Amino acid sequence: MKILITGGSRGIGRVCVELFAKNGHQVAFFYKTREDKAASLSESTGAEAIRCDVTSPDSVRAAVARAAVALGGIDVLINNAGISGFAFFDSITDDEWREMIDTDLSGAFYVSREAVKHMLSQKSGVIINVGSMWGKVGASCEVHYSAAKAGLRGMTLALAKEIGPSGIRVNCIEPGVIDTEMNARLSEDDMAALCADTPLCRIGTPLDVAELAYFLASEKASFITGQIIGVDGGFAI
Ligand code: NAI
Repeated sequence: MKILITGGSRGIGRVCVELFAKNGHQVAFFYKTREDKAASLSESTGAEAIRCDVTSPDSVRAAVARAAVALGGIDVLINNAGISGFAFFDSITDDEWREMIDTDLSGAFYVSREAVKHMLSQKSGVIINVGSMWGKVGASCEVHYSAAKAGLRGMTLALAKEIGPSGIRVNCIEPGVIDTEMNARLSEDDMAALCADTPLCRIGTPLDVAELAYFLASEKASFITGQIIGVDGGFAI
């Protein structure tokens, strides 16, 4: 398969790149700034590293076109790039709100809109959006993040209906607390409390998420579309 992964230079995206590449698939990934990390990942996996800011439609257009040429098409898109934020609701600035929506929701829209063109022409494809359990249950002091991720739910459902007849499946993974740089601001006590609130009593790993993405991308999931699936140890039950 030919896979495009956004936000691939670290965290969940990086492990997705490694998992698909290790299993013999052709992979291209987008990175925003960390050229050093992107280059080392490209070297160790053979994946194509492409610089792209998903908040910029122009950057996305050029980068998806480059990925399609490098891969010879696009079979699977994983919309993984994202940022998080923590602020009291009434102190979220206009810029913070816009940056969150632009990255976590509009970014997936821009990249999907370009990638879908390639999938429509081949009448097959898979889109996997990486949402968050906070898009399902809401997080205090993360209204902008929760709103953006809830938007991804709606986009997943609507797009699955619209392009299912063209042989394209669209699903959304909602991770719980995963051990990546995104949670670096949390203290050990915070992490212990989140762990205690998780029925399976542990923090998730990027591989927990990547394994589900791998399954959803595969033919084994060929009758699964429009689904929102948690990888959260039961946190958001
Ligand atoms: P991370 O912070 O390690 O990685 C995020 C990636 O997105 C980075 O590679 C970053 O460069 C990229 N990115 C951010 N803004 C971008 C932009 N404008 N253009 C292109 N790339 C951009 O975080 P992690 O944990 O690997 O997150 C991956 C996804 O999983 C995100 O969508 C996040 O919201 C979601 N998630 C993570 C959870 C966690 O506990 N770590 C929980 C629930 C969801």
